Amino acid sequence: MDAVNVKNLVFSYTEERETIKDISFAIPKGSYTTIIGHNGSGKSTIAKLLIGLLEARSGTIQILGQTLNEETVYTIRDHVGIVFQNPDNQFIGSTVADDIAFGLENHCVPQENMQEIIERSAAKVGMSAYLDSEPTNLSGGQKQRVAIAGILAIEPDIIIFDESTSMLDPQGKKSINEQIRKLHEQKNVTIISITHDMEEVAQSEYVIVLRDGQVEMSGRPMEIFRQEKRLKEMKLDVPFALKFSDLLIKEGVEIERECTLEGVVQQLCQLKQIN
Ligand SMILES: Nc1ncnc2c1ncn2[C@@H]1O[C@H](COP(=O)(O)OP(=O)(O)OP(=O)(O)O)[C@@H](O)[C@H]1O
Ligand SMILES: [Mg+2]
Repeated sequence: MDAVNVKNLVFSYTEERETIKDISFAIPKGSYTTIIGHNGSGKSTIAKLLIGLLEARSGTIQILGQTLNEETVYTIRDHVGIVFQNPDNQFIGSTVADDIAFGLENHCVPQENMQEIIERSAAKVGMSAYLDSEPTNLSGGQKQRVAIAGILAIEPDIIIFDESTSMLDPQGKKSINEQIRKLHEQKNVTIISITHDMEEVAQSEYVIVLRDGQVEMSGRPMEIFRQEKRLKEMKLDVPFALKFSDLLIKEGVEIERECTLEGVVQQLCQLKQIN
């Protein structure tokens, strides 16, 4: 079953312009999928359409086999969590702990389990010391951490991250990405990550590339990165590891093109053993 199945989706904010132009794509259940595209290509709009915050002009959206409509939207939202791009617009609680608790209450988590879950998820994002702080007084990166903690606490079947680690320092980004990856691997949570981070894209299982409200390409990371010229046209980059492996190949080192550093190192080690 697909986690998400979108067919002929059309959406516009205004009469004059179609923002999403007859898009169709599927995201396999349990996959780690990244969505990339230049600014304004429609990534956040798609995320909002998927959870029924915006209404499509035409086309269908199925989430875990269920068609999204007025009747199913609340059931579907029980299964789909989203961390929005702008961390300012997602807090309800007056403290960090309240905010995480609010999400848990909405998902009918028993009161006696809450404190432990709140503490555990705050620790995962390095925000244990801020449980009594007001979310509005936090820095942008701290707000992103809290928003992620709220979603990690609930563990929905599908999580959409809309550039939700964009303000984090490199260490924070790395450690939170590890938490997300754990959730994906251990609990089979479907991850849909909208990102400009090509290293994350390289590590994902499946990539959807948006361009001006349409799907320009989709496939495995290496299939996408082979289209370097098209990516450049869309102002998108390729991962550092790919550039590095290309340089090695140019220098005569006999390895295959690779988009992760681990992959390059592995090939170099094998080469060393052979020689
Ligand atoms: N509330 C709105 N009203 C009218 N137009 C909007 C609104 N929100 C977004 N748009 C337009 O829709 C298009 C897609 O915007 P969207 O936010 O989905 O892009 P994005 O791919 O998420 O970009 P970014 O990488 O900058 O986050 C843009 O042209 C934008 O100007
Ligand atoms: Mg966006």
